[in-house]
Amino acid sequence: MSVDFNNPSPVGRELEYIAQAVQSGHISGDGPFTKKCHATLQGELGVPKVLLTTSCTHALDMSAILLNIQPGDEVIIPDFTFVSTVNAFVLRGAKPVFIDIRPDTLNLDESKLEAAITARTNAIAPVHYAGVGCEMDVIMDIANRHNLAVVEDNAHGLFGKYKGKYLGTFGALAAQSFHETKNFNCGEGGALLINDPELVERAEIIREKGTNRSRFFRGQIDKYTWVDIGSSYLPSDILAAYLYGQLEQREKIQSHRKVLWDTYHLGLMDWAAKHDVKLPSVPDYCEQSYHMFQMLMPTLELRQKLIMYLRERGILSVFHYLPLHLSDMGRSFGGSAGDCPVTERVSDQLIRLPFHNLLTGAEQEEVMDAILNFKF
Ligand SMILES: Cc1ncc(COP(=O)(O)O)c(C=O)c1O
Repeated sequence: MSVDFNNPSPVGRELEYIAQAVQSGHISGDGPFTKKCHATLQGELGVPKVLLTTSCTHALDMSAILLNIQPGDEVIIPDFTFVSTVNAFVLRGAKPVFIDIRPDTLNLDESKLEAAITARTNAIAPVHYAGVGCEMDVIMDIANRHNLAVVEDNAHGLFGKYKGKYLGTFGALAAQSFHETKNFNCGEGGALLINDPELVERAEIIREKGTNRSRFFRGQIDKYTWVDIGSSYLPSDILAAYLYGQLEQREKIQSHRKVLWDTYHLGLMDWAAKHDVKLPSVPDYCEQSYHMFQMLMPTLELRQKLIMYLRERGILSVFHYLPLHLSDMGRSFGGSAGDCPVTERVSDQLIRLPFHNLLTGAEQEEVMDAILNFKF
């Protein structure tokens, strides 16, 4: 038997909806299924405006344009994240300021935030790692006192909550991912959540190639024209059809993932304590999104050995996020070894176990049996 790390296959009516989208003749952006996705996300999250995008990367790119990030600005970003969080701002000419993460949740270490702010700082982009909320009370307080915009990278965290409030509803803007590795997917896709109503009209323009086409379609103007910078950030309605099929199954998806996560946690708890392995840490005031199950092995060597050992048994596990400040680009912005010690350590130790919507109990048992028999 082999156990996939991920499986983005349909769980509901995705293929039926794709056929409907194709038959309807509206397969470009902002068709009926895009509108259903917008309504579902706006209704569920209570966000004033949601716009589907072609990726989370593009939702982040739109955020940087919307915030008027300029060359010379500084943006504060956790060192332990995907490149898109930082690239969006660097594309506008900003200098990234990387700060280290907390050793427990692996989220941006809010105690290091204030010291990283300078007169040139414009924005903070916290990442809710694994869909466990960052310390948003502290982050929002600091951002408000220094008049900084907050863009939440919520790629992992749809439907997660911090102190009862949905992730993605704290900052002026938030970015979601519907990449095939996420809880809800359409292959490649994303969404921009716009919590600041003043940004809505310009967001529509930026998403529609810098034109006021959305106002034209709503009959608010009689012709549309080029009014701002922008690009083509709206996905085909075929993708939205697949995504809607997934969103419709949100309770089933989330409850299955909760069972998987709890099973790993319970099944590996004693083993982890005995071997100095750290299981994920979720503060009791955070409702996580059950996006992934990661563990921190005691050393890089043991992490690599476990990945190989599982692979020999047909079980795929992965690691991710190399410290951004030590990448070629990070070094070009002045990063050097020792700047973010927690990230440097964690990126050597982290392993992600198979975790997806179609993972079965039998497959999970096989993964856990293999791990419990791993020789340190
Ligand atoms: C934290 C984070 N932000 C952004 C992205 C980019 O998402 P997308 O592939 O939808 O552009 C990812 C991708 O996995 C991610 O992990």
